[in-house]
Amino acid sequence: MSTGKPKLLFLILIYLTNTIASAQPDFRSYVCGDRGNYTTNSTYQTNLKTTLSTLNTTNSGFGFFNLSIGQADNRVHSAALCQGDMDPDLCLSCLHDSIIKLPQVCPNKKEAIGYYGRCMLKYSNVEVIGNMLMEGSGILVNTQTASDTDRFVGALDPLMNMLKAAAAAGDSLLKFATGNTTGSDFETIYGLVQCTPDLSETQCTDCVEDAYSEYVSSGSRGKIGGTVFKPVCRYSYDIIRFYNGSTMVIPAPPPPPILQATPPVLSTQPPLPGKGSNTTKYVIIVIAIVTIGVIIIVSIYFLLKMRRKKKQNPVPPTNTENETTEIGDAESLKYNFNVVRVATNNFSKENKLGQGGFGAVYKGTLGDGREIAVKRLARDSGQGEVEFKNEVLLLAKLQHRNLVRLLGFSLEGSERLLIYEFLSNASLDQFIFDPNKRALLDWKIRYKIIKGVAKGLLYLHEDSRLMIIHRDMKAGNVLLDAEMNPKIADFGMARLFNPEETQGEASRIVGTYGYMAPEYAMHGQFSVKSDVFSFGVLVMEIVTGQKNQCFQNRESTESTEYLLGFAWKSWRNGTITDIIDPTLKARSGPMNDIIRSIHIGLLCVQEEVSDRPTMSSVVLMLNSYSLSLPVPSEPAFFGNNNTFHRYVSSLTSSNDSANRKVSKPTSSQCSKNDVSISDIVPR
Ligand SMILES: *[C@@H]1O[C@H](CO)[C@@H](O)[C@H](O)[C@H]1NC(C)=O
Ligand SMILES: *[C@@H]1O[C@H](CO)[C@@H](O)[C@H](O)[C@H]1NC(C)=O
Ligand SMILES: *[C@@H]1O[C@H](CO)[C@@H](O)[C@H](O)[C@H]1NC(C)=O
Ligand SMILES: *[C@@H]1O[C@H](CO)[C@@H](O)[C@H](O)[C@H]1NC(C)=O
Ligand SMILES: *[C@@H]1O[C@H](CO)[C@@H](O)[C@H](O)[C@H]1NC(C)=O
Ligand SMILES: *[C@@H]1O[C@H](CO)[C@@H](O)[C@H](O)[C@H]1NC(C)=O
Repeated sequence: MSTGKPKLLFLILIYLTNTIASAQPDFRSYVCGDRGNYTTNSTYQTNLKTTLSTLNTTNSGFGFFNLSIGQADNRVHSAALCQGDMDPDLCLSCLHDSIIKLPQVCPNKKEAIGYYGRCMLKYSNVEVIGNMLMEGSGILVNTQTASDTDRFVGALDPLMNMLKAAAAAGDSLLKFATGNTTGSDFETIYGLVQCTPDLSETQCTDCVEDAYSEYVSSGSRGKIGGTVFKPVCRYSYDIIRFYNGSTMVIPAPPPPPILQATPPVLSTQPPLPGKGSNTTKYVIIVIAIVTIGVIIIVSIYFLLKMRRKKKQNPVPPTNTENETTEIGDAESLKYNFNVVRVATNNFSKENKLGQGGFGAVYKGTLGDGREIAVKRLARDSGQGEVEFKNEVLLLAKLQHRNLVRLLGFSLEGSERLLIYEFLSNASLDQFIFDPNKRALLDWKIRYKIIKGVAKGLLYLHEDSRLMIIHRDMKAGNVLLDAEMNPKIADFGMARLFNPEETQGEASRIVGTYGYMAPEYAMHGQFSVKSDVFSFGVLVMEIVTGQKNQCFQNRESTESTEYLLGFAWKSWRNGTITDIIDPTLKARSGPMNDIIRSIHIGLLCVQEEVSDRPTMSSVVLMLNSYSLSLPVPSEPAFFGNNNTFHRYVSSLTSSNDSANRKVSKPTSSQCSKNDVSISDIVPR
């Protein structure tokens, strides 16, 4: 399929201020696609009319509708989806309104998508079933911010992750999950995730994760309610109940964590024929819900205010129930040391996959045939057993498509092992810096890798519960699965060794030469922006197929010119295509995409920390082509003020800082793997 122009339209509307006046309420959000126009009285229009007037007869039984009519260029594809728990009558009524409204708001458009709160209608001149590329998101946000955003988000994210998994695991008729949890002010947070049932489990997960990224990028994290509508999925939460729980069929009351299974509600009631009064009934119900919503919010607000005033010493944040489950969880993540030793053939040389900054990594095969990767920590972390377990538990909870999954740990005396999922395609550096394998990575794959790494980093940075700064982001720490999806490895290592450092100054530098931001390498100051710098270097390497610190300008007579410096010069001179990997150029790839990625990379490596974008802006820039990018300033390590030389001398001078034991790589190191620097120098 063509990559098109994935235009994201963020329509940030405000709940409750929406006045519903007419019989056909306004959409919460709608997007008119740019797949061309049809002319009045054309065959396309006739087909569209026929499709829309018959669509309501195609109910799958679970509130999903799909119909395609016509031939060749005049073929119209349409689909509609109702919230999984919606009363069939209301569903038809919502669909009816959409069918009238959508051609009105997008006149003569071949493609359009409209979202009411609980139903969605889309049509297009390309197939809509299984089409993940259709554009048009809508975001709705409740403007009120939670009183303690960290704790709110800390409760919300695990709930939404569970719902994502539950919805994705649904069947080919319904992919829908709802559930609740307790938030920061002891209020209940209600969550809902739904995908169109034509998606595979992976596609559903992908869509919901994209929705999450878009939500975070819109700066709405920590708000007490919000929804992201996408053509094939929806992500919603609120502190008022916005789904119909009363119709939920729960086979056996599940113990906490609370998660409601997807019930076959709609199948019990066959779709009723539409009545003329349906529309008005719907409007009245919507108005009633909105009014009740306002009353509930207002009363919750005052109730909480009163409660907070009354309470002199409030209940500690984590209740005892949570604590017991945490200890239970830690035990479930524990692997028997001997089992792991056998699995890795006693940490044999043959099983060794590589050497990282914190220890060697071995491949293991468990008794049941499952493959694992085992990191044997090289030295004592200086942490007690309990703290170590707690950290591992926290890291294991970080689950994202673009993070390597931490499965558990193992302890024996001073030996500490971390057990990870095993990924078959090794790490990105083994592809990108290998002249033969590099050719296997076309631009589509490279772009997927860039976007995936950006999303993984965004997740690490914005998950406020931990807010992890990676500190050693590089090609060697990007692992690839069988489908070449990137997964970030080695995150959270700094927490395992010096958990007191969450931001600010490091007493010890962890990182890799060539990827370290200047303020981190020279002054030990790290922040999310030092990860952004490393990400920028990585983007440049992916585009050029060259290692930053080993880059040799073939034409330059100057001794060595670093990749960033060369990229900047080329950018300034308008010869930026010179730096692109020749194997990409040979295939006449989408040059605009490639140049845009270089542009984003240059923004990330700017010397001034505050000039560098955050990862959420980066994700937004990578996804939205219509967004115009700022002009980059000179990258670090370039130019006459010679930060670069100060940098190199700080790396090589031993008495500059006793705690920084970093050396400039020799040329032989350019052919070897990058080595992370993480030695502790005795204080
Ligand atoms: C479709 O119509 C709009 C205005 O209604 C116009 O701006 C646009 O250029 C048209 N697109 C095509 C492909 O004809
Ligand atoms: C479309 O068809 C109707 C009925 O046949 C006719 O009245 C109208 O003028 C036509 N419109 C155009 C733009 O051709
Ligand atoms: C909720 O379920 C009840 C009982 O089936 C039904 O009468 C009601 O219309 C439903 N409400 C919505 C909003 O679907
Ligand atoms: C949360 O979900 C559980 C399990 O489905 C349900 O029993 C409970 O009533 C829900 N809580 C609220 C406040 O809706
Ligand atoms: C779409 O409609 C066709 C024809 O009615 C049907 O065979 C197909 O299963 C439907 N697809 C989905 C995903 O419901
Ligand atoms: C479907 O829509 C058409 C046209 O709006 C209407 O006449 C028909 O009764 C509807 N059928 C159902 C099953 O709602």
